[in-house]
Order: sequence, then structure tokens, then C-alpha cells
Amino acid sequence: MNIETIDVNDSIGIVSEVLCGHDKRKGVLVSTLHKIQADNGYLPEDVLRSLSKKLAISLAEIYSVASFYKQFHFSPRGKKIVRVCKGTACHVRGAAKVETALIDRFHIKAGETTPDLKLTLETVGCVGCCGLAPVVTINEDVMGTIGPKKIKHLITVIEEEGVAHGEN
Ligand code: FES
Repeated sequence: MNIETIDVNDSIGIVSEVLCGHDKRKGVLVSTLHKIQADNGYLPEDVLRSLSKKLAISLAEIYSVASFYKQFHFSPRGKKIVRVCKGTACHVRGAAKVETALIDRFHIKAGETTPDLKLTLETVGCVGCCGLAPVVTINEDVMGTIGPKKIKHLITVIEEEGVAHGEN
């Protein structure tokens, strides 16, 4: 195409059309990522590859968008997601002992998941229940004033979760 024959208005129209289509696809992307994560518990790479082809958005761009949001995960998560609060009140009242007990028992560090997918261990800042320190959250539930007895109970709950659902 000869550069002198390009109609500027046509070009702007084409660019606008392309951008508009791209924006629409990007708009669909985040809600689709939510659906994929709801179905799988995380964003499997093969599913993201298919999505990349379907939406004509590069895989790199999909990862870039997904990694911007903290709620998206790229590897399988445990049935129990235990977050040890590391806020000041919990720190002062023994959060480290709780975390150490879980690390010692399940042999994973914060940010990791056990191979049997029973537990994902994470740490979190103050969860707003400082009066109950030390605190952990287990999925959506809060467990406070955790001493040795409650740690033992928590470990039992995590260990038995798979058995209770016949998934062991
Ligand atoms: S510091 Fe743990 S709940 Fe506030």
C-alpha cells in the first residue's frame, strides 16, 4: 500500500475498531478468569492457552492481567487455606508458634500447598480481630486465641478433611 493513498479517517476508523474489539475482549477477560478460577480453584495454564487463542490476547498479556489481581492463583490450592495473621497483636501473642507448628507438621512454607492438596499455608496482615490474637483464618472462618490445644485441633481438622469427603 502506498503511504500517500492512505485516507487518515479510514485509518483512524480501523484503529478505533481494532482497539474497541481489543478492549471488549479485555473486558471479558477478567470475568472469564474469575469463572475459570471458580471452576478449577486456580488458573490452569492449558486453559489460559485456550483462552488466549479464543480471545486473540497473548498469553503474556493474560498472565500480566491475572497477576495484577491478588485473588488469582496459578497453581492448585489446598482444600483448607490457612492464613496465619502476622499483624502486630498476633505477632506479640505468638503467631510464630502457630506458623511453626503448621510448618513442622505439613512440611510446607507460607505460600505453599501440600502435595495432597489438603492445605495451603499463607500469612496475612491484621485481619481485624486483634482482641482474639493470635488468629488464623481457615478458608472464610476465623479461629482466635490459638494455643497449643487449638493448634492440635486445627491440624486434626486439616488432616481429616480429605477423609471426611472421601477423597483420600
Ligand atoms: S494483628 Fe492479628 S488480628 Fe490484628
